[in-house]
Amino acid sequence: MADVGQEEDFEAARQKALLVGAKSVHIHDLREQFVEKIIWPCIQSNATYENDYLLGTSLARPVITAAQIAVAKAEGCDFVSHGCTGKGNDQVRFELGYYALQPSIKVISPWRIPAFYERFAGRQALLDYAELKGIPVAQTKAKPWSTDENLYHISFEAGILEDPDVTPPADMWKLTVDPATAPAQGESIAIDFVNGIPVSVENLSDKTVVGSADKPAPLDVFLYLNALGRRNGIGRIDIVENRFIGIKSRGCYETPGGTILLKAHKDLEGLTMDREVRKLRDELSFKYAHLLYNGLYFTPETKMILDMVKASQTNVSGRVRLSLRQGNVTILGRKALEPKKCLYNSELASMDSSLSDAGSGWGFDPTASEGFIKTISMRIRLWSAQQEQPPTL
Ligand code: ARG
Ligand code: SIN
Repeated sequence: MADVGQEEDFEAARQKALLVGAKSVHIHDLREQFVEKIIWPCIQSNATYENDYLLGTSLARPVITAAQIAVAKAEGCDFVSHGCTGKGNDQVRFELGYYALQPSIKVISPWRIPAFYERFAGRQALLDYAELKGIPVAQTKAKPWSTDENLYHISFEAGILEDPDVTPPADMWKLTVDPATAPAQGESIAIDFVNGIPVSVENLSDKTVVGSADKPAPLDVFLYLNALGRRNGIGRIDIVENRFIGIKSRGCYETPGGTILLKAHKDLEGLTMDREVRKLRDELSFKYAHLLYNGLYFTPETKMILDMVKASQTNVSGRVRLSLRQGNVTILGRKALEPKKCLYNSELASMDSSLSDAGSGWGFDPTASEGFIKTISMRIRLWSAQQEQPPTL
């Protein structure tokens, strides 16, 4: 069993495993590596799937898969198993990971075995069976949906949510308070990034500081951001997404800390990242989101993308101040770690002066803009002149 930060009674899980006949039980705490090896690079990449999904389930799969294969090797197993349905993304993510990490492994996937799915039509039939056999199960009839939780997020799918027009009941949401009832004054915070990685968080309202550039504490930093996001109602979404396998699915998600971090990171890039580097990285973000979503983490292309994303972040160091209030994350200001990391030049940008030489001899020359615009206009003028009518609205 993987501890990826889900709120779970691991001792009860151990007892349950032994109760249902396990010979040995392995429970591994993977939280730190989840944050450092998976979440931080994802923040550096700004990857989101179909614009809104922060990929919380996809991100946890590589760490779970690697730990599962490590246990399988230690125990000399020929087979591994998972409980995913045959209709979703997770089966692909787990199995591609297994095969990448141990090419000879064999997979048992009960939901895809006819004898199994003919006997158990769905989740309800399994819940009934568990009740009959006295197997403790957290999912109950009172919570008619499927969840997947880790320290980054929780997902809600299936059950009553299968009708995309059914509004989730208020008591479904688990990690965050209702934005409408979160404290009206909110909180102000500052996040310090070094090379695109958050190294510390300061609560400007109560002066709490977690983490520092010299003493990395990735898990503490992330969990603190989660606590801030949770109590201010940040990071809820409700979407219909396209599964890899070609089925549309409705999902609700809560990603409190991740939502704050992504906003802060993107903002700091505005100040510190070169335009063309940013364009290239943005193309990679789109690609990387699909690789993660589609279960292609342990592949040569992912390795290559992650190397490039890392290289894109060498200038992304500084402090972003934000306000967290009733579900909203608002930028209050940003500052580069040192002047030479800051690519914004107030003299160059200023609307209060046309000339900006700053004594350098190569400063901005407004007369040059005229020629620049004339040159790039040639193609458009030629095209326009050749039309019967000039372009219309
Ligand atoms: N649709 C999301 C994804 O594919 C969440 C999947 C949730 N998984 C689960 N076993 N309930 O990443
Ligand atoms: C599942 O089908 O097991 C969960 C949802 C998904 O993997 O997309």
